[in-house]
Amino acid sequence: MDPIELIRPEVRALQAYHVQDARGLIKLDAMENPFPLPAGLRDLLGQRLAEAAYNRYPDAQPAALKALLAASLGVPAAAGLLLGNGSDEVIQILAQAVARPGATLLSVEPGFVMFRLLAQSCGLNYHGVPLRADFSLDLDAVLDAIRVIRPALVFLAIPNNPTGNVFPDAAVAAVLEATPGLVVVDEAYFPFTDHSWLARVGERRNLLVMRTLSKLGLAGIRLGFLAGPPDLIGEFEKLRLPYNISVATQVIATTVLESVDVLWQQARLLRAERSRMAGVLAAMAGVQCFASEANFLLIRVDQPGAVFDALKAHGILIKNLNGAHALLHGCLRITVGSSDQNDRLLDALAVSLRAPG
Ligand SMILES: Cc1ncc(COP(=O)(O)O)c(C=O)c1O
Repeated sequence: MDPIELIRPEVRALQAYHVQDARGLIKLDAMENPFPLPAGLRDLLGQRLAEAAYNRYPDAQPAALKALLAASLGVPAAAGLLLGNGSDEVIQILAQAVARPGATLLSVEPGFVMFRLLAQSCGLNYHGVPLRADFSLDLDAVLDAIRVIRPALVFLAIPNNPTGNVFPDAAVAAVLEATPGLVVVDEAYFPFTDHSWLARVGERRNLLVMRTLSKLGLAGIRLGFLAGPPDLIGEFEKLRLPYNISVATQVIATTVLESVDVLWQQARLLRAERSRMAGVLAAMAGVQCFASEANFLLIRVDQPGAVFDALKAHGILIKNLNGAHALLHGCLRITVGSSDQNDRLLDALAVSLRAPG
């Protein structure tokens, strides 16, 4: 037998998560924070990183870091916290935990692609309920699917990626009520919206809230977390690899969270830039711009491929979502950058729309 035959068929059927080559380009494709840390904080990081003990395994239960995360981001005192190497790892742990034969992870589409990928890689069924054409939640369709499928795990990203919108609280409450399974509200984009479910963790047994530091400004260190009832978190802990949060990640997260206002200030600037860009984009002929509460804007144009290529020729990388889902026809996703980067994007887009390709 060829060794490739050993690989599970569902794994062979997967497409690996594709990361675009961004060398030499202004990177507006991956919802990163464009701003560096201030010089004083970088110096402090340099000192602390120089002194850290890399010959030792990291603290396997970093209680002080968890307390700092909880205090700086508003995690309820009674909640348990699971730390992941990015929230991607948290999704994987959740999927592993519920992956009995026949169990299903349910989400909405278009949505964050890792929900499907990690469900399938862990042997779960995946079911994506389409959003409406305007990307609002089709609550009746979601509730019908929940009744029929009885999912073990429901993921709702709020704000949603790649659409940027927020699903109404009443709809999420109805999903929590209807589902026999766990409902994870994925708040990856929490720095850019006033909506949150985090304070309500503990009010319902099946509510879990996931967050990441990636969009707040620390994508490079890979740190995400899940807040939920402590006994459930204790079960997920059994699947977490013992040293999944590296020494460097712990030092950097602790140091930066001690000055977390720096990141909130950057997030406020990005929110202001998002409004400015949305105004300009909405006024551009040939562009439909969708409302967003995240650090990106989704637009629809007539010739997305040509516009994407033309922007790249101008040195700007965004994400072409045309073809990723039927509802995303013509769609491009633009991460909000620094005001200079955004100006360049807007100028290049105006030129590209006049002469695409
Ligand atoms: C909705 C959503 N959840 C989770 C993630 C993954 O975040 P992390 O960098 O913590 O793995 C992303 C990244 O784009 C996302 O859009």
